[in-house]
Amino acid sequence: MTTLTVLPSGKTYDVAAGATLLQALLAVGEHIAHKCDGKADCGSCHLFVQEGRKSLSKIQRLENEKLDTLVGIGSKSRLACQAVLGEEPVTVELLSFV
Ligand code: FES
Repeated sequence: MTTLTVLPSGKTYDVAAGATLLQALLAVGEHIAHKCDGKADCGSCHLFVQEGRKSLSKIQRLENEKLDTLVGIGSKSRLACQAVLGEEPVTVELLSFV
């Protein structure tokens, strides 16, 4: 297990390491867009990782290519469906609300 903090609400959850951020967020009832159901194809699950970036899986080619096509990305950007949680606590900032 690890700890996932979600901004802007500031809520904190115990979530399973090894899950994607998208899986973890949906499992705890947070609302996050995921139009392509986790195929790194839609970009709607884009969020900012404010803390704990090193705990997440590295960005792979598919995610990198999709991020390159999105507006408003920065050094903290990840696709929630592609970032896999490790053992360290992570804080994410949701950008889309559904
Ligand atoms: S759900 Fe579509 S890119 Fe993540």
